[in-house]
Amino acid sequence: MKRRFGAPLPRERQTGKNPLWYKDAVIYEVRVRSFYDSNGDGIGDFRGLAGKLDYLQDLGVTAIWMLPFYPSPMRDDGYDIADYTDIQPECGTLADFDFLLEEAHRRGLRVVTELVLNHTSDRHPWFRRARLAAPGSVERDFYVWSDTPERYREARIIFKDFEPSNWAWDAGAKAYYWHRFFAHQPDLNFASPAVHEALLGVVDFWLAKGVDGLRLDAVPYLFEAEGTNCENLPATHDFLRTLRAHIDSKFEDRMLLAEANQWPEDAAAYFGTGDECHMNFHFPIMPRMFMAIHMEDRFPLLDILAQTPAIPDNCQWALFLRNHDELTLEMVTDEERDYMYRAYANDAEMRINLGIRRRLAPLVGNDRRKMELLYGLLLSLPGTPVLYYGDEIGMGDNIFLGDRNGVRTPMQWSADRNAGFSRANPQRLILPITIDPEYHYEAINVEAQQNNPNSLLWWTKRILALRKQFQAFGRGTIEFLTPSNHRVLAFIRQYGDETVLVVANLSRFAQYVELDLSKWKGTHPVELTGYTEFPAIGEVPYLMTVGGHAFYWFSLEAPASREEIDSAAAYRPPVLDVATWESALAGPGRSVLEEILPGFVTSRRWFAGRDARVVGARIDALVPLGAVHVLIARVEYADIEPERFMLPLAVVTDGRAVAPAAVLATLHGGGAMRRWSTRPKTWGRRARCWRRGSRRVRPRALLPAPPTGRPSRPRRSPPSICRRPSRSTSARTTARPPCATAIAIS
Ligand code: NOJ
Repeated sequence: MKRRFGAPLPRERQTGKNPLWYKDAVIYEVRVRSFYDSNGDGIGDFRGLAGKLDYLQDLGVTAIWMLPFYPSPMRDDGYDIADYTDIQPECGTLADFDFLLEEAHRRGLRVVTELVLNHTSDRHPWFRRARLAAPGSVERDFYVWSDTPERYREARIIFKDFEPSNWAWDAGAKAYYWHRFFAHQPDLNFASPAVHEALLGVVDFWLAKGVDGLRLDAVPYLFEAEGTNCENLPATHDFLRTLRAHIDSKFEDRMLLAEANQWPEDAAAYFGTGDECHMNFHFPIMPRMFMAIHMEDRFPLLDILAQTPAIPDNCQWALFLRNHDELTLEMVTDEERDYMYRAYANDAEMRINLGIRRRLAPLVGNDRRKMELLYGLLLSLPGTPVLYYGDEIGMGDNIFLGDRNGVRTPMQWSADRNAGFSRANPQRLILPITIDPEYHYEAINVEAQQNNPNSLLWWTKRILALRKQFQAFGRGTIEFLTPSNHRVLAFIRQYGDETVLVVANLSRFAQYVELDLSKWKGTHPVELTGYTEFPAIGEVPYLMTVGGHAFYWFSLEAPASREEIDSAAAYRPPVLDVATWESALAGPGRSVLEEILPGFVTSRRWFAGRDARVVGARIDALVPLGAVHVLIARVEYADIEPERFMLPLAVVTDGRAVAPAAVLATLHGGGAMRRWSTRPKTWGRRARCWRRGSRRVRPRALLPAPPTGRPSRPRRSPPSICRRPSRSTSARTTARPPCATAIAIS
């Protein structure tokens, strides 16, 4: 509450050493084969995805989770793995994977891949070998065999639309084998130590390559025991602890994300005491977000969150609205399931197993306000949001494709042939492009939405950028307010000195709400998308009118003192730690520049007189012209159209005197980043504060960086830049001599 606005994450939290990176992440789930086809064979591939990383970086996600890309007969979209340590040829090669990983890391994007522990394809050499091996041998015991299909009868059938039993007969082995999913996916036998050893080898293979996280597919089903439902067994947790200890002993900053589709208490068990998985999907909350907006009532959400136990500090829920599977309705009651089917899947074609095979936009009838509200909930509730590719532009689905393929169609990049996804003959595409009139790729595509600042894509970019500035969303506590109007969901997220009030109107119609905010008396709610200051909170309940499906984030801010207002009046160039000065202008460096630009621009004399609140800046172009760079900055305002400014920039490396007022930033050689792993303030945010003339800036934010002491070796790989504020307007008064001074020739 002491601070006016939240700080964006220090860069090293995104790319450098940071064991808790997943807490501040925004994950983007991508099906490689549907994302972008680089070689014209009609199937997306690693090179294609690598070519779209700039798009993802611009979108504002911080990690990508790739669906399976291993050699596979593809009868379960690659979750039927035939070789754990190679690549399905259509996706590329191991070298292409390495290239993608490197390119992602270079941009500060983490990479999460699939670890399908529970089962393999029946084409996997382990299974082929097992079928022919002698009963009782190590090879045979890689899988679970039985002479009768009567064992483990209490285990439910998950793919109930496709499989009559969890046992299938194998003529080669002359025995039944156990499978929790399709019959062509035999379950590995976790009672066998040889299976553990083999899988740890797989883990080492991918983590040694540099993969940041592993999604543990179908993790509740690893072990079987008679008389149980064969889910969440103690032996499964023992194995996960072993797996975690193994990873922790060999690698740093890696993350395990459990796919445990369970009720909250059983799901929370996958965190152990902080010694099993770092993350786990919160499955039960997902359908309840949809229920809450259809019922226009906050009850489903409050109810499930009340049932959700506290989790260890180093753990985090993963939240999602949609993914590559059906919208699963396993973790709801029978009545709730009926309700969801009635509300969201009245056509039988839309249903599969125990769920609904639809994408986000069609689920909500293409209602933009509902989509924004759902995203608002996703981004505000405790956890790390996971977005599904294509939902950022409101892609449609095709319920007439088999299985869950209707939500896996190619990404719609443009109105060109094949939606810009591939140059192949349209009949060769991995899946058909969506041509449903309402979601036709000619209208719903990235290019069209990039060109329209009012598009869902731009809205998503803005909301992600805003969320990133508050760690409260990823790490904060949650405290629900209980206004009498149950159509309004309101809660406080608090972390350190950040206090964010979230207000969501679940109803189509305008509502009023009286919030008991007495704990925060004296503060001003500042609405975060427009930086509009609301009246101070007093003794009486805080009355708010909220439009239909409206959703707000407010920062609760203490009033600024006169001194703070004055001290905010001048621009102080930040000190940037960079590997090379060129890196300040490229890659992740550009986004740091975008953060400091508002402060610089608004303190220029030529900018004076504008009575508009600056909410951000983007670099439209940065063109080298001999010794000078011409920077075209697009300055965005809260209430008027953006403006573009041209700033000639030069980098002074020879220590010559430079007019202090011209200095945009001071650059230091690499190595100081670790000293700034705490909470440096953002220049961009402070610039907004200054522009408004009433925001508080904590004095700590203005302290110069501590001396760096012994120079350390330059980092070999990005992150190459971080920012720290300087007390001085001149590079000359900082603790170390600068390596360069970036000046604006204005
Ligand atoms: C979970 C995956 O999300 C789903 O797509 C797959 O069919 C099952 N695991 C079985 O592998």
